[in-house]
Amino acid sequence: MLSVKITPYLSVSFKRKLKISMSKIKKIAVFTSGGDAPGMNACIRAVVRTGLYHQLEMVGIMQGYQGMIDDNFKPMTAHSVSNILQIGGTILKTARCLDFKTDEGMEKAYQNVKKQGIDALVAIGGDGTFTGAERFSNKYNIPIICVPGTIDNDLYGSDYTLGFDTATNTVIEAIDKIRDTAASHDRLFFIEVMGRDAGCIALRAGISCGAEAIMLPEVDTAIDELITKIENGALNKKSSSIVIVAEGDKNGGAYNVAKLVKEKINFYDTKVTILGHLQRGGSPSAFDRILGSRMGFAAVNALLKGETHKMVGLKGNAICLTSLSEAIHFHDFKLEDDLMEMAVILA
Ligand code: F6P
Repeated sequence: MLSVKITPYLSVSFKRKLKISMSKIKKIAVFTSGGDAPGMNACIRAVVRTGLYHQLEMVGIMQGYQGMIDDNFKPMTAHSVSNILQIGGTILKTARCLDFKTDEGMEKAYQNVKKQGIDALVAIGGDGTFTGAERFSNKYNIPIICVPGTIDNDLYGSDYTLGFDTATNTVIEAIDKIRDTAASHDRLFFIEVMGRDAGCIALRAGISCGAEAIMLPEVDTAIDELITKIENGALNKKSSSIVIVAEGDKNGGAYNVAKLVKEKINFYDTKVTILGHLQRGGSPSAFDRILGSRMGFAAVNALLKGETHKMVGLKGNAICLTSLSEAIHFHDFKLEDDLMEMAVILA
């Protein structure tokens, strides 16, 4: 893995000379694609302002790949990204675009990118966005740098993805509220959180809220095992309980888990809450604002250094680059063993 070392304190005029002489890139387009995530706006702002600082022309593509196909481009100025740091979602809008998966769709997108005179792209999104980016840049030889923007935190090459911290805090706030009513009514709650393939939100929220059990896509939890946990809790005088179910849990989601549990125990009044898309919204946390700014800044600098087909990531506290193919295809992404063990012991 290659680390990008950005020297922070070079004088402005020296840096400007360096950039202009070294890169052929004059116009960069930025877009967001796939599920939105808090912090995307901070990243867009950083990409635009870093590019302008380097005297580049900056463009935003509306609705991700869909906007590329539909020729929906808009010039970006410093003012276009004013007052957006604190806003959730993405000012460039986003979409899950099926047309881009076809050769015709991709060709249309390329013709529009060419017509706009765009030399390089910054794509902000998750693995679906990266897969499109890799195919597009391979086929048409356009430099591209990706930024991991997804609440799921499921990309190899970055300890954190943009939006994950805010989403986890949103989930924690919601579960704390549910805990109040669960305790008041002596109820058992099954709370479903996002995460089709990754249980990062479920695990961290579970630890933070003291959930009695956490059901994760990464772990096959048998219903009988869950029932034993709930029964043990009741024997230990727990009058209410919270079970967090990641949407990708193999038992089929919170409603199904609740149904299976209810068939075997009847001493709790049970309720189900699906937190759903509220997890994706809201003002980004300080962490996501800074992460988005750092990643956007690093993405433009990487392009100007001649990098392409890479994802900007955060490892430890350092910005690094990972090849797109590794970020997409390397699935050795694991939940931390100590968190998994601790979650069981502390519950
Ligand atoms: O953003 C990622 C994610 O939130 C997943 O956890 C979830 O399964 C999915 O998006 C939902 O996507 P959509 O908004 O397209 O239904």
